Amino acid sequence: MAIQIGDEAPDFEQESTAGRIKFHEWIGDQWAILFSHPKDFTPVCTTELGRAASLKPEFDKRHCKMIAVSVDDVPSHTGWIGDIEETQKTSMNFPILGDPDRKVASLYGMIHPNANNTLTVRSVFFIDPKKKVRAMITYPASTGRNFTELLRVLDSLQLTDNHQVATPVDWKDGDDCVIVPSITDPEEMKKKFPKGWKALKPYLRMTPQPNR
Ligand code: BEZ
Repeated sequence: MAIQIGDEAPDFEQESTAGRIKFHEWIGDQWAILFSHPKDFTPVCTTELGRAASLKPEFDKRHCKMIAVSVDDVPSHTGWIGDIEETQKTSMNFPILGDPDRKVASLYGMIHPNANNTLTVRSVFFIDPKKKVRAMITYPASTGRNFTELLRVLDSLQLTDNHQVATPVDWKDGDDCVIVPSITDPEEMKKKFPKGWKALKPYLRMTPQPNR
């Protein structure tokens, strides 16, 4: 059955460019994003991995580890990394899993046979420190992902966990947030949202971003 939000992220052990990885152990007490690339030495993937590497300090700030997977083997990835670093002017600073046996791709349903029955689509799984899948994004091979959007999703998930707010349409860091509907007690609201709130409707309460 397909992985759904709230499920435990499947655990696995697989070789990577940073050695053998036991996935849950590797995540430890951090967040993680696991993202797939259809194949090594392909153009869109090359640009994505370069951008991901340059954004790693932003993921680090959010206590989120990054790990990519591509269905080729680790020696192939190692050769490809040279091209990524040369063309994207970055140095690769997170592991790429080898997956020639399609173990990870199968566990995470990354191969969509009606799109292509051997290569993966572009999947992203957001996994929290309890190893729960908290969000998923899926793009076709021809569409490069927006890694700034991945940071935005991570910020939203962490705001919900830490401050009981949700993020409205087109939200970006610093914008007002939405108080989650489950909070209705005015005393609790005063404590949790000392900057105040505006109730546009009883169910639509906006508050300044709590951690800004
Ligand atoms: C790419 O990464 O450029 C790519 C991979 C597979 C199909 C299409 C594009």
